[in-house]
Amino acid sequence: MNIKNICCIGAGYVGGPTMAVIAKKCPHIKVTVVDVNKDRIAAWNHEDLSKLPVFEPELDTIVQEARGRNLFFSTDVDKAIDEAEMIFISVNTPTKTYGKGKGMAADLKYIELCARQIARVSKTNKIVVEKSTLPVRTASAIKNILDHTGNGVQFQILSNPEFLAEGTAVSDLLNPDRVLIGGDTTPEGTKAVNDLVEIYGNWVPKAQILTTNVWSSELSKLAANAFLAQRVSSINALSELCEQTGADVNEVAKAIGMDSRIGPKFLKASVGFGGSCFQKDILNLVYIARTYGLDEVSNYWEQVIIMNNHQKQRFSDNIVSTLYNTVSGKKIAFLGWAFKKDTNDTRESAAINIADNLLNEQAAVSVYDPKVVEERIYADLDYLNSRDSEENRKLLKVENDPYETCNKAHAIAVLTEWDEFVTYDWERIYDNMEKPAFIFDGRGVLNRELLNSIGFVYYNIGSGIIE
Ligand code: UDX
Ligand code: ADP
Repeated sequence: MNIKNICCIGAGYVGGPTMAVIAKKCPHIKVTVVDVNKDRIAAWNHEDLSKLPVFEPELDTIVQEARGRNLFFSTDVDKAIDEAEMIFISVNTPTKTYGKGKGMAADLKYIELCARQIARVSKTNKIVVEKSTLPVRTASAIKNILDHTGNGVQFQILSNPEFLAEGTAVSDLLNPDRVLIGGDTTPEGTKAVNDLVEIYGNWVPKAQILTTNVWSSELSKLAANAFLAQRVSSINALSELCEQTGADVNEVAKAIGMDSRIGPKFLKASVGFGGSCFQKDILNLVYIARTYGLDEVSNYWEQVIIMNNHQKQRFSDNIVSTLYNTVSGKKIAFLGWAFKKDTNDTRESAAINIADNLLNEQAAVSVYDPKVVEERIYADLDYLNSRDSEENRKLLKVENDPYETCNKAHAIAVLTEWDEFVTYDWERIYDNMEKPAFIFDGRGVLNRELLNSIGFVYYNIGSGIIE
């Protein structure tokens, strides 16, 4: 099949940037990104590129180049499906909040709705590509729905998991370590795989495009995220031990990372990993293993999540105990709310639980994040249902200025590693804080010597307070 029209269902953090890059690199293909969320589509079409719904470095430039040429954002899902030879499914697959598998399994209702819509609308053969992270064997469920409810047209289902990391989405898409495509080994399946290989071949060297069977591809995505998250939990586990023993976790990370078998990446101790993928994918893995009765396997991976929850809890506990066992009425300034730098995404961000824990202790939390908007912060807190939304707005304030955030604070908690935090006028911040002025650096990004010389009491994750 000669692919001239691509449709992508879901204009989120995955669908938006991925399709923008495909449109940039394949000007001969018309790419239409559709979503049921009208506001989101309007934001993607906004003339002012700073209003795009997803913030990613360089994304605005690419959207500007391709939008209106061969990249379109629309709410007309049926039309885009009808026109396309290839349809990407990039809808959200949150963890189930009800019924069997609650809190663990992926909720596939949005995927199923998409499959039913594709089946209903399609009048010509289509290649359907799973982009969303999905439990192993979802492709067969999609195929089942398509084959049994469709209009007799042929569907090929491919798995093409997304490995982009937020904050570096554009460069990850332009220069991927690898592209993974899983498909059926039948002649039709192989042909569909080749069609997708050809699209990526417009900018990715062929040697970096791996083709596998569908199940291997689906499981590889969960496995990659589980391995990455496991490294973060491993270094975070060591960070607590370092604080007790006088070792410095950054020195340990450097020493072990220079072993070429271990490697230096993903060894930065932190306040705990966040993001839409790590926790969800591991819970998925745990759930799948448990479903097959593989208790040791599921318990093994579950420990990665248990460690992550512990790291968040111990960070807030440490703030309370260091501030003389009470933070009631004390202002605690949060620098950062996003789950990592260079993104406005806050899903599963450690900051949310840490704020919640401190609000339970009646702290007055004040938040500054360079990219996250006030509504998002309150929505994240309200979602936890720990207290009513009025109470959340009373106890937690969102500021637009970091100096205002830190003014009269008893302590500062650094929760995201935004570059700009390092360059602040720390003397000025110190002068306007209550004394002793504490900093809890949950990302290990600030300059200890400078801060100590100014007079701060500086706690660094993985080395503790060194005066
Ligand atoms: C991840 C995977 O990296 C990506 O391949 C997949 O497609 C989606 O999930 P993402 O969640 O966007 O990407 O960001 P990532 O850079 O992996 O960071 C995840 C979390 O781990 C962040 O909260 C980050 O701060 C934290 N982290 C990462 C650490 O705490 N220490 C590290 O050394 C690395
Ligand atoms: P991700 O990080 O996986 O991209 P997001 O939540 O950012 O997840 O984006 C998923 C998008 O998919 C949302 O904008 C949501 O409105 C959209 N979506 C979900 N179900 C459908 C559907 N059936 N048709 C069209 N869009 C959908």
